[in-house]
Amino acid sequence: MRSQSPTGRASLKALRIGPIEIGFPAVQAALSGYSDWPMRVIARRLGAPYTLCEVLLDRFVLDQKLHRANRRQLKVTDEEHPVGGQLMGADPAQFAPAALKLVDAGFDVVDINFGCPVKKVLGRCRGGFLLGQPRTALEIVARVREALPATVPVTLKMRRGIDDSTQSRDHFDEIFSGAFELGVAAITVHGRTVAQRYVGPSDWDILADIKRQAGERVVLGSGDLFSATACLEMIARTGVNGLSIARGAIGNPWIFGQVRDALAGRPVRWPTLFEQRDVLAEHFALSRETYGDQRSCALMRKFGIKYAQLHPLHAEVSRAFVAVKSPGEWHGVLARWYAEDAAGRAAESHGDLVECAPCDAPGADGSVAAA
Ligand SMILES: Cc1cc2nc3c(=O)[nH]c(=O)nc-3n(C[C@H](O)[C@H](O)[C@H](O)COP(=O)(O)O)c2cc1C
Repeated sequence: MRSQSPTGRASLKALRIGPIEIGFPAVQAALSGYSDWPMRVIARRLGAPYTLCEVLLDRFVLDQKLHRANRRQLKVTDEEHPVGGQLMGADPAQFAPAALKLVDAGFDVVDINFGCPVKKVLGRCRGGFLLGQPRTALEIVARVREALPATVPVTLKMRRGIDDSTQSRDHFDEIFSGAFELGVAAITVHGRTVAQRYVGPSDWDILADIKRQAGERVVLGSGDLFSATACLEMIARTGVNGLSIARGAIGNPWIFGQVRDALAGRPVRWPTLFEQRDVLAEHFALSRETYGDQRSCALMRKFGIKYAQLHPLHAEVSRAFVAVKSPGEWHGVLARWYAEDAAGRAAESHGDLVECAPCDAPGADGSVAAA
């Protein structure tokens, strides 16, 4: 799968998910509390060829009473395609109707979450819990695949197991191979176990093993893709067909362009302060359009902190974003700290820089933090 360019650089073939041609293989991962419509649109405009909505609970998607939250979470616009919606739940019977709702809303791909390590999610037999229940997991896959037209690919998101036991690896293999037999188009594997949550590295050697065993079947790799260099390294070490960029894209949506440059052998560029200012303003405007003044300020503070990492005076700018309470104050931060153009700071994102616990249970809007 992996090929070498004449200069010896690792390169990837175009990514395809079932009938959908994605092309460039570095995509925006599902990120609960982050990959909402504004974040996806920004990622897309800056070069992400495919983005995934944050995970949604099947019963939330089916609940007609949550009109407003529903509309926001299920918002898909023309410029986004192809875009994936992700479902999580426990009851196989609820997945198929929820998957149909995602397709009605405009999502091109339905992704099923078998990876979330959040305690309350596991306690409710969802997400990563299902990695230990191959029969139920495969029943969910079968029901969703049967319910959707062949033109809509079904994909999975899995961690590499519940833990490091042999039984966990066997369950993983059973779900992984069984799901492909049932017709899933691609599987994204996060190289951490559920027990690991976010502690310790993503195991890329196991990802390489999984890809070797998968042969021609499409596997995307996840875990520790914090920079263009890391993306190239994952390709070279694992041979995966695609890269699912998660925390590395929060506050650095330019990462998709950086990976494109790195793959083409061009030097990686960091955005200047004016480029950062324009994207910060654009992201805020999209958020405001979606959530209104108050909620957008609360939501955008956590993005601001991450964007600030690319500013030479990152600590001060980060503090300024934390204090924002109104759209006027947001624009005030831009006017003060981004008034003059200068080179941006080359700051790779790291796991520990992410505020990843806005809640540890499904939110009122059906989203789930740190899936
Ligand atoms: C705040 C946060 C939210 C997440 N939400 C989701 C989600 O909704 N669906 C999902 O499949 N994975 C979710 N993940 C997992 C990521 O997609 C990814 O697999 C994981 O962060 C490993 O990649 P990284 O080390 O490059 O961040 C989430 C991770 C974080 C940190």
